[in-house]
Amino acid sequence: MLLEVKKLRTEFKLKRGTVTAVDDLSFTIDKGEILAIVGESGSGKSVTSLSIMGLLQKPGKIAGGEILFKSQDLNKMSQKELQKIRGNKISMIFQEPMTSLNPVWRIKDQIMENIMTHMKISKKEALTRTIEMLETVGIPSPAERANDYPHQMSGGMRQRVMTAMALACDPELLIADEPTTALDVTIQAQILELLYRMREKFHMAVLLITHDLGVVAEAADRVIVMYCGKIVEEAAVKDLFAQPLHPYTVGLLQSIPQIDDDSDKRLYMIKGMVPNPLNMPPGCNFSDRCDRCMDRCTKEMPELQDINGHKVRCFLYDKAKEGELSAK
Ligand SMILES: Nc1ncnc2c1ncn2[C@@H]1O[C@H](COP(=O)(O)OP(=O)(O)OP(=O)(O)O)[C@@H](O)[C@H]1O
Ligand code: SF4
Ligand SMILES: [Mg+2]
Repeated sequence: MLLEVKKLRTEFKLKRGTVTAVDDLSFTIDKGEILAIVGESGSGKSVTSLSIMGLLQKPGKIAGGEILFKSQDLNKMSQKELQKIRGNKISMIFQEPMTSLNPVWRIKDQIMENIMTHMKISKKEALTRTIEMLETVGIPSPAERANDYPHQMSGGMRQRVMTAMALACDPELLIADEPTTALDVTIQAQILELLYRMREKFHMAVLLITHDLGVVAEAADRVIVMYCGKIVEEAAVKDLFAQPLHPYTVGLLQSIPQIDDDSDKRLYMIKGMVPNPLNMPPGCNFSDRCDRCMDRCTKEMPELQDINGHKVRCFLYDKAKEGELSAK
């Protein structure tokens, strides 16, 4: 087991009340595995990754749980100890590359700096490695482009530079938070293909955060669906697509445009909106949007149940027996 998150709870204490952005979140990632976390905006995906990386900004705070990386609790480490792991054993690609690239530094200086902080190698070796990494992520004429400043590159190229920087120290875990959202479809596909190749080449694990189920289908082995900070469903990708259980997942899947669908029917949309975190509906968080809401759903919060390795948080499956996945 490479990463084991146990009952993570992350809160933001605001004047108007406490927002629980991530609640009762437990999952694992194995070496070489690609795990996707999917969910609408505000479901707690970025807060999860920032909690793991120890990069939460105030008033954000981990209020409970453990984040075990190779059995060591990252949450109990000092910032100094964490710094040794960040960018080295665990690295992260952020949603908007311009916010994490320094506009006044050349690309090569930023990647070399990162390499030399974490690896005992000479400046010359760091430059060679930088150019190799730029080549690996598919940047043409890498030796010349290494001298560019970030603003001289296109969005797709900058995302590749970020990826090169994240991969430069051979991380064991890469956290990629919406790595393709800002990119057009062709470049999205190239970046996903790149992550896939890097996983094969370096046997690294990837936590892939996205709101796009199409990306999940293409790239991930396993998927977690989050809603209002909680896991509502978790399964192998093929099982989730073959038999989605939670009404929220069913809604998300029905909202994906089908390329081969030539009918002019309108795309399904889950009714309503994600609730205000300071004013959650009582009972199941999804109850005010759920077509299958029952009396009990507005009173109690369902537990996450494991049905033959497919997990779901919904009363429809409360009495599910071994091998019996269909709802009552
Ligand atoms: N700085 C903050 N102050 C207060 N609350 C915050 C802050 N950052 C996040 N939150 C709370 O945490 C929730 C989850 O935020 P998060 O950024 O993890 O969402 P997300 O799933 O990454 O969404 P997106 O798809 O838009 O990136 C938000 O809805 C908000 O209630
Ligand atoms: S517990 Fe009830 S409201 Fe919640 S998703 Fe299941 S059926 Fe819908
Ligand atoms: Mg986010």
